[in-house]
Amino acid sequence: MNPTLDILLNRKSVRSFEKRPIEADVKAKILEATLRAPTAGNMMFYSILDITDQRIKDRLVKTCDNQPFIARAPMVWIFLADYQRWYDYFFHSGVETLCAERKIEMRKPAEGDLFLACSDALIAAQNAVVAAESFGLGSCYIGDIMENYETHKEMFNLPPHVFPIAMLVFGYPTQQQKDRKVTTRFDEKFIVFENEYQRLDGDGFKEMFAEREKALPQGKATRGITNYGQHMFLRKFNSEFSKEMSRSVREMVKVWREG
Ligand SMILES: Cc1cc2nc3c(=O)[nH]c(=O)nc-3n(C[C@H](O)[C@H](O)[C@H](O)COP(=O)(O)O)c2cc1C
Repeated sequence: MNPTLDILLNRKSVRSFEKRPIEADVKAKILEATLRAPTAGNMMFYSILDITDQRIKDRLVKTCDNQPFIARAPMVWIFLADYQRWYDYFFHSGVETLCAERKIEMRKPAEGDLFLACSDALIAAQNAVVAAESFGLGSCYIGDIMENYETHKEMFNLPPHVFPIAMLVFGYPTQQQKDRKVTTRFDEKFIVFENEYQRLDGDGFKEMFAEREKALPQGKATRGITNYGQHMFLRKFNSEFSKEMSRSVREMVKVWREG
């Protein structure tokens, strides 16, 4: 159809990389495209950590739910939701005095600011994914970077209004990864609604999950499990990593608010 759609329709997460490093000019172009992402108020409420130190990559394997492929990725970027830069800039710009003169409150970054900064960071991250694909590079998001907030805060010297919302690992995919089929998605009728939200009922769920139900893995881990919903509840929603993520985010929100 066109090269952009080709990339979007054929992208898949890549977790196994060739040993080949990523060329400096390729990396520079990916970064340029990343920083061109739309950003709220053109304020760029995000920062990016380019992790080049192998010891840090090795540590991230452990702090991000033991995912060894992180250490083997030639390029690792952490996307930080960042309101600290602007908040510091406000102080630097004499906003405190302005507020006193005008009798307005010098408020702290709050929940809305956090979500806006997360939006900015994630939109930039997806630009990086697409730009990387255009050079034949594969990537994978690591959501587990939201876990272990206190550890990451210390590791990366993060101030109160900065939070690692996503990590991306990049590399040239191995032949086996290139040959792999793209994953399936739910039918759009379950995802896209006209004008108002449609809550599913029993029949809807049956239809929506029919394909996944057929592919339900069999084995020790799934013994006693009768459907895909139960499988995913145990594997994802009720997993230790998922609980840790919520604990970590709760702690971060406290620090972000109190800052
Ligand atoms: C927010 C987010 C977090 C993710 N976290 C991880 C992760 O920690 N580890 C991993 O292997 N894949 C992770 N993924 C990749 C998803 O598992 C993947 O996108 C999904 O299974 C669909 O496969 P596809 O991207 O190949 O189409 C994450 C994706 C997103 C969008």
